[in-house]
Amino acid sequence: MRSLKTATLALGVAFGLIGGSALAAGEAPTPPSQNWSFEGIFGTYDRSAAQRGFQVYQEVCSSCHSMDLLDYRHLEQIGLSEEEVTAVASDYTVTDGPDGSGNMFERPAEATDSFVAPFANEAAARAANNGAYPPDLSLITKARGGGADYIYALLTGYEDPPDDVEPAPGQYYNRYFPGHLLAMPDMLSDGGVEYARSGPASVDQQAHDVSVFLAWASEPHMEDRKRMGAKVLLFLVVFTGMLYAVKRKVWSDVDH
Ligand code: HEC
Repeated sequence: MRSLKTATLALGVAFGLIGGSALAAGEAPTPPSQNWSFEGIFGTYDRSAAQRGFQVYQEVCSSCHSMDLLDYRHLEQIGLSEEEVTAVASDYTVTDGPDGSGNMFERPAEATDSFVAPFANEAAARAANNGAYPPDLSLITKARGGGADYIYALLTGYEDPPDDVEPAPGQYYNRYFPGHLLAMPDMLSDGGVEYARSGPASVDQQAHDVSVFLAWASEPHMEDRKRMGAKVLLFLVVFTGMLYAVKRKVWSDVDH
């Protein structure tokens, strides 16, 4: 009993110390958890939210962030028609070639092209962003603890710095960014994006929708995976029942 108490105490102290040092390093608070339709074992992506989120990405985020792993045709998975995908793609220009005489040429993007990146390379991206690199967003909800909750919290987490913090030029204070100072300005504004169906959107709404879009982009096959999981579970339940029936049959002659 005594050793148990000592062990518990030791653990408590150890965790207390770890927690303390993390806080001292200016750790950001855990992003509050939001309601996402894609959570839970039967959760699916809200297609309308993902489409609105794509609009937010396109109109706001895509001037700095690439999404290299997405092709325009993948947008059909969130409910765009083939024609809509072609129309979206044709607004962008890609370099193709070489043609018959060995020259590269430019053409409108097609459904099978990947999302056109805002900068030619990392150096150009850094040069345009005060030396900071806007990360590719294809897998961002997987790459950050907190997933979609973190993206939502980050986009809505800009606030005035406390008195003892002096952001350098090109730095912004965010409640949820580890260390709090980041090189991305507060990009969303109320009414900054106007949705076709519902009109001007609030910051909350835009942050929510773009988080859904980014969650889908990070894990487009989640729904298939969950469906397969449910089938496997059902199969295991039935199979266990059958095994039990067989066991009873096989052992039915044996006296207890
Ligand atoms: C003006 C350019 C610019 C725009 C527009 C922009 N960002 Fe950023 N973003 C940056 C830069 C620069 C960084 C790197 C910040 C740093 O590391 O200090 C960044 C970082 C991020 C990160 C990573 C944060 C982390 O934990 O490392 C996420 C997520 C992100 N941006 C999402 C978005 C989303 C979503 C949008 C659209 C609503 C957007 N950004 C629009 C420049 C931009």
